[in-house]
Amino acid sequence: MPVIAVIGAQWGDEGKGKVVDMLAEKSSVVVRFAGGDNAGHTVINPRGHFKLHLIPSGIFYPEVTCVIGNGVVVNPASLINEINQLAANGIDTSRLVISDRAHLIMPYHRLLDELEEKARGKKAIGTTLRGIGPAFTDKVARMGIRAADLLDKRTLRQRLKTVLENKNIILERVYGVEPLSVEDMYQEYAGYADILRPNIKDSVELVGAALDRGEVVLLEGAQGAMLDIDFGTYPFATSSSPLSGNASLGSGIAPNRIDRILGVYKAYCTRVGSGPLPTELHDEMGHRIREQAQEYGTTTGRARRCGWFDGVAARHSARINGFTGAVITRLDVFDGFPSLKVCVAYRIGEREIASFPSSISELQKCEPVYEEMPGWLADTTCVRRWEDLPAEARNYIDKLSGLMGCCVNYACIGPERAQTIEVNPLF
Ligand code: GDP
Ligand code: IMO
Ligand code: MG
Repeated sequence: MPVIAVIGAQWGDEGKGKVVDMLAEKSSVVVRFAGGDNAGHTVINPRGHFKLHLIPSGIFYPEVTCVIGNGVVVNPASLINEINQLAANGIDTSRLVISDRAHLIMPYHRLLDELEEKARGKKAIGTTLRGIGPAFTDKVARMGIRAADLLDKRTLRQRLKTVLENKNIILERVYGVEPLSVEDMYQEYAGYADILRPNIKDSVELVGAALDRGEVVLLEGAQGAMLDIDFGTYPFATSSSPLSGNASLGSGIAPNRIDRILGVYKAYCTRVGSGPLPTELHDEMGHRIREQAQEYGTTTGRARRCGWFDGVAARHSARINGFTGAVITRLDVFDGFPSLKVCVAYRIGEREIASFPSSISELQKCEPVYEEMPGWLADTTCVRRWEDLPAEARNYIDKLSGLMGCCVNYACIGPERAQTIEVNPLF
C-alpha cells in the first residue's frame, strides 16, 4: 500500500492541512518533513477548528501516529503550546513522535532572525520571525542542537556552552546586543526535555515498519514550491525545501517508496511576505479575492497578497516536484465571479516566456499573459460529485490541469473535511 506526499505547489497556504486531514482517515502514519513553526495549517473537521504549526494534520484520528520528521526544525516552547491547546480541545497527542534527529530552534535563532530582518531594511524578506533561517543555517554549519540532545542533559549543557560562545560574539560584536546566558538557556531547555522526553524517538524504524506492514503513510509538506531554497524566488524563499525530493530526505523514507506526489494548488495565487508574485493584483479585484477568501496568514495574521492563477509557476512546480496529480482548493471563492483570468505565459517586451525565470530582476519585468474564462455564478459549496459542478467550473479545472501538466485528483469547495470532490481517483 502506498506512500503519498502532499506538497504545497505555489507560495504556501494552499490548503495542505485540509488535504492531509482528509487523506489521513485511511493512513496509519503522517510525517511532517520540512519547515518549522513558520507553517500554519488549518484543519476544520468534526472535532473543531484548528491551526497547526508543527503537529501533523493527522492528529485528529486516534489510530494515526504523527511524526515530526528529521527535516523539521522544532521550537520546543511552540510545540508544547500546541500540544496543550489540542489537549484543551480533547485531542489526544500521545501518538506524537519527534524525530531525535530533528534540529531545535533556540532563543538565539529567533533573535537573529529579527536582527537580520532589521538589518536588511527595505530588502527584508518578510520572514515569519520564527528563527527558521538561522536554525537551518546552524544545521548545515554543524552548529545545531538536535532533539536527541535533550535526552542527555550533560550533552545539552556542553553543546549550549560551545554554540553560545560563537553566538554571543555575533550578538555583541555584530549587532551590539546583550549576550545570552548558558545557564538560563540550559534551565529552560532542560524543562522542555522533561516534558517532551517520551515523544523523542528514532522515527526511521517506526516509519519503516509501517511501510513493511503495507500501511498507508502520508508525508505532509510545509510552505510551497515557489518558496523553495533552490527553485523558489531566491532570496525571497524559506530556508528548507518544501519539494517532493525533500519528502524523502526529511522523513527518512527512500524516494523509491513514494507512490503518489500530490501537488496542492489554490484556484488562484497568494503570497505572504516580500518577493515576486507575477500575477499579483494591486487593484479592486485583488482586494475582492482577499476579502472573499479571508486571505490572512494563519501564523502571523498578515494580509496575503492575491493574484490570478499563474500557469507558468504552476508548470514549473509540477515539473520539479513530479506531481502524479493535483488538488485544486478554494474553487468556491470564485462562486460569485462573472469572469476569471488565468496566466498562460509571461511577456518581457515582445518576448514571450513560457518557463519560470530564475532571476528576480527578470521576474520583476515579467508581465502575465492572461486568458479570460467565464465564471459559473453558482454556489458550489454543497456539490460533492464532479458531474454536479457547473460546466464552467469543470472547464476552469481542466484549464488548470492542462497548464500544470498533470491530472487533478480532487477539487475543494470549502474548508471542511467533507467539502471535497473526487475528480480522478488517486489510485
Ligand atoms: P496550508 O498552510 O497549506 O495548510 O493552508 P492554510 O491553512 O494556511 O490556508 C488555507 C486556508 O484555506 C485555510 O483557512 C483553510 O481552512 C482554507 N481552505 C482550504 N481549502 C478550502 C476550500 O476549498 N475552500 C475554502 N473556502 N477554503 C479552503
Ligand atoms: P505553510 O506551511 C506561506 C514565507 C514567509 C516569508 C518566507 C520566509 O502554512 O504553507 P521564513 O519564516 O520561512 O524564513 O520566511 O516564507 N512562509 C510562508 N508563507 N505559508 C507558509 O507555510 C510559510 N512559511 C514561510 O512569509 O515570506
Ligand atoms: Mg499555511
